[in-house]
Amino acid sequence: MRIALYPGSFDPITYGHLDVLRRARRLFDELIVAVVENPRKTSLFSAEERKKLVQAALREEGIRDVRVVTYAGLLVDCAKELGAVAVVRGLRATSDFDYEFQFALTNRDLDSDIESVFLMTAGQYSFLSSSLVKEIARYGGDVGKFVPACVAKALAAKFKRPKKEAR
Ligand code: PNS
Repeated sequence: MRIALYPGSFDPITYGHLDVLRRARRLFDELIVAVVENPRKTSLFSAEERKKLVQAALREEGIRDVRVVTYAGLLVDCAKELGAVAVVRGLRATSDFDYEFQFALTNRDLDSDIESVFLMTAGQYSFLSSSLVKEIARYGGDVGKFVPACVAKALAAKFKRPKKEAR
């Protein structure tokens, strides 16, 4: 049984993440999405909200056999605990490479049993990021092409502008 972990901030999950997830699902017996609790960046959604959004997105996309967990601390510790043999990361453009290279080699130093596997996203998602999606949603733009409807709804609720009081 070969288990892989797909970790990330998922703040929020996008169609780019789902594309990588589908590709990874085909390669391993079990895929577990691991949502980090304390990302280095400040997150818009709490860890629990991000986890629930991943679960809702999976339901919306008809993906039934992927588990979602949250983790705090080192990724390799989470991978070990869950019995994962690999960590999957998506690669978009070359700009991802430097960080991913450093991340993978550090994780290998920490635990040489866990292999990093990189999967390229479909070309149409090579520009897509959660940050861009948040920026579009913040200014009231349409994010329907980039995220499932449940995520678009959650973004709209987060950025809902308070109604101006009538004078
Ligand atoms: O979606 P992201 O923000 O690119 O994901 C990065 C993440 C959360 C996978 C990574 O920062 C992480 O796992 N952090 C937990 C701490 C850790 O294990 N760091 C690795 C040693 S440098």
